[in-house]
Parts: sequence; C-alpha cells; structure tokens
Amino acid sequence: METIQVGSEQIESSRFRWITFSSPEAVVDDGQDVIQGLSQTQKTLPCRYFYDDRGSELFEQITDLPEYYPTRTEQAILEKYAVEIAQLTGGCELVELGSGSSRKTRLLLEAYNQLNHQLHYCPIDVSAGILKATAIALLRQYPRLKLSGLAGTYQQALAQLPPTELENRMLIFLGSTLGNLNDEECNTFLTQIQQALQPGEFFLLGVDLQKAIAVIEAAYNDAQGVTAEFNLNILRHLNHRFQGNFALDQFAHHAFYNPVEHQIEMHLRSLKRQTVVLKTLDYQVVLDTGETIRTEISRKFHLPTLIDSLKTHALQPLHIWTDPQGWFGLLLCQRQCTSGECP
Ligand SMILES: C[S@@+](CC[C@H](N)C(=O)[O-])C[C@H]1O[C@@H](n2cnc3c(N)ncnc32)[C@H](O)[C@@H]1O
Repeated sequence: METIQVGSEQIESSRFRWITFSSPEAVVDDGQDVIQGLSQTQKTLPCRYFYDDRGSELFEQITDLPEYYPTRTEQAILEKYAVEIAQLTGGCELVELGSGSSRKTRLLLEAYNQLNHQLHYCPIDVSAGILKATAIALLRQYPRLKLSGLAGTYQQALAQLPPTELENRMLIFLGSTLGNLNDEECNTFLTQIQQALQPGEFFLLGVDLQKAIAVIEAAYNDAQGVTAEFNLNILRHLNHRFQGNFALDQFAHHAFYNPVEHQIEMHLRSLKRQTVVLKTLDYQVVLDTGETIRTEISRKFHLPTLIDSLKTHALQPLHIWTDPQGWFGLLLCQRQCTSGECP
C-alpha cells in the first residue's frame, strides 16, 4: 500500500490530495483589492484578509462565545437534520466553501458514514493552516474518507473543481458566510454555484436571519473582546503580507447594525490622523481622526427574498430548516435544468 506523509501521519496516498491554486493566486493575491478598498471614500478591506493562522484561531474562539449565537444555532439544526439531508441527497461528494475547522460538517460526515454512503470530502479555504490541520484530523477519524484539500479562494476553487469520482455532488456554504458578500457579489457568487453544479446536484446553504437588533449587535461586540482582536488582526495580517506599518493600538473596533441594509458592519476607527504605508504594494494611505475602514459586512437575510434569488440562479430550495426561534436557516437546494440544458 502506497502511503504519503501528511503532517506526522502516514496516509494511504489514494485517500488524500492537496491542491493549491498557485498561479491564479498570483493574479488575485497581488494586493490590488487592498489598494482598491483603501482608496474609496468609505475605506474597506476584503474580509478574507482576516484569515491567516491567527485569524482562523480567533474565529474558532468567537464561535464558542456566549454572545455568538450563529454557530451553535446552525449546529443544533444540523444535529437534528443531518441524517435527513444525507437521506435526501443519497451518496454524494461534499464540497465545502470556507470550511475552516469543518466543525459542523463533521455532523454531515457522521450522517453519510452512518448511512454507509461513500465519504468524499473536498474542503476549500483560503487559510491553508487550518485547512491542513483539519484534513489530517478528519482522515485520522474516518478511515473510509477520501479528502481533497483545496487551498484558495471560492472563485479559484469553483472555476477549477476537480472532477468528482461519485455520481453526485453537494456544495456546502455554512456559517452565513454568504452574508459577507454585498448584493452584487452575492449574485456573482450564486452564478458561480449554478455553473459549478450539474442539474440534479445539491447546494446546502446556512444563513443568519433578521431578528432583534440587540441580539445581533451583542454577537459582534462580545464582552471578552475576542471579536475586537479578530477585527484588528486584519491589520496585523496586512502588515505581515505587504510589509505594512499599521499600528494596531491606533485603531478601535466598532460594530453596529445598519437597519437600512439589514447588515452588521464591522469597522476599525482610526484614533488619530495617520499615514499608513504598505511597502510591497508601493502604496500609502492617510486616515483622519475618527475615520473608519469597513472590514466586514454580515447581512441578515429575509428568507422569501433569498429564496427568490436562489431560484433565479436555478437553485430550487427542496427543504428549509430553522431553529425554534427562527434565528438561522439551513436550505437544501437542488440545481434545476435551465432551458436547453436537459432533454
Ligand atoms: C466565517 S468563517 C466560517 C467557517 C465555517 N464554514 C463555519 O461555518 O464556521 C469563513 C471561512 O471562510 C474562509 N474564507 C473567507 N474568505 C474566503 C475566500 N474568499 N475564499 C475561500 N475561503 C474564504 C475563512 O478562512 C474561514 O475559514
């Protein structure tokens, strides 16, 4: 039996593949999106820059905070319905976008395992450290599992998904990460999902729903300050990546609900007038006292509007599960034929 070394483990080589999108990465990862964001009137940063190793670690801590309801609410839904999902889809390859620690996906893997479906899992994440550590843990835990780890962005992975060995596939997007995309980005993303799936294949989507503002705002302003540290980590990551000189103690975390856009906005407020240099980008930016950089939006969804939008992308919701309070939604959609696609 041929084996390969994965971390400190010897794994059968047929069970593990590691794919990095090195050349397209050079195109999308040249920092132009940083320059573009910081050059706008309302300065912004792409939220994927939160996630270096430290950012992924901080995000994991956030998911355990008492105020942060999304993870445990979605997890409770999956605990209840994972087996039903596996029964509805039958055996299929699970492809997860922004998989992180795959904590909730383990419930799905358990369900597919329990039903004796083949276990093929393809986690995709821009944060390569957590992706690899999770891959090793899962391969150890499930001896029947075949895993392909894809280190890169959603766009790169969706455009170049390796062919599946199984008949069917389910794309998975949990944690309401869809809420980090504005309307236009969301439309582009759903078009990519539509194009990546064959008619009959599945899309499992977890979304945070509109609810009392106090509940939402507390989740992004935790008492222990972990979210604030996570927010500031984006600057540390940029310093490291582009030889920047952001002084982290000269920025303050600010998160609030925007009721017009139905979204949480996370900002970093400049505590003084300052000039920041990103050396390898040959770029500098001036921030006034009190000026903010918006680092993340987290949209809170209205289910009927979201369903309409999914349907316009040929993604028909088959089942929608929520928690008893109606705080979070999990939607199992099936890719429909569009005209001319099917006989
Ligand atoms: C909000 S976390 C959600 C993690 C996990 N899916 C969950 O539900 O707890 C977003 C994850 O997506 C990854 N990510 C963020 N932007 C990405 C991008 N553009 N392409 C690929 N992965 C991305 C991050 O590294 C992180 O692991």
